[in-house]
Amino acid sequence: MNREAVYPGTFDPVTNGHLDIIKRALQMFDQITVAVVDKPGKDLLFTTQERIKMLRKTVGNLSKVRVERFEGLLVDYLQRRNIFVIIRGLRAVSDFEYEFQIALMNRKLNSEIESVFLMPSQEYTYLSSSLIKEVVKFGGRMDGLVPGIIEKALKKKFALTK
Ligand code: COA
Repeated sequence: MNREAVYPGTFDPVTNGHLDIIKRALQMFDQITVAVVDKPGKDLLFTTQERIKMLRKTVGNLSKVRVERFEGLLVDYLQRRNIFVIIRGLRAVSDFEYEFQIALMNRKLNSEIESVFLMPSQEYTYLSSSLIKEVVKFGGRMDGLVPGIIEKALKKKFALTK
């Protein structure tokens, strides 16, 4: 049996914390689909196409990972793809309440779908895409927190030169 899971998110942009979760998920599943949400109703820095392109460049060397866009309800997307596991990262206790709500709502919407929570490496527990954007915007260093191509893309967006 091919064990597949979907790792959904906004990825605006992908960070090393997200990559850490993808690598951990690969130890449990044969195929991971990173699902990039379109129109999540937040103010985003990168377009959906840009977020997908950056992710594809970042996970390009991982043969068992594919990157796709989705819109609408996450559970409907999983159903269409015939996948029944959602991967989410839990960075800190503060993530728990929100994730718990989402997981239970998703279960209410489709009881066949299970959510699996993975903890990233400790060094990434304080990371978020918003924090990364703020630090880069004001010229801070991102060593070890995002892949090089992402740092470059962020600087380009904010028109920062080294
Ligand atoms: N490392 C670093 N950062 C991480 C992380 C990790 N391992 N895991 C999460 N994050 C950060 C993200 O960067 C993001 O930061 P930001 O808020 O500063 O941008 C934040 O945690 C949460 O983002 P994300 O993981 O992308 O989740 P989300 O809250 O934006 O939700 C979906 C994304 C796709 C799961 C959700 O919007 C969804 O399901 N949408 C479809 C509609 C739907 O079905 N709704 C009903 C759900 S009950």
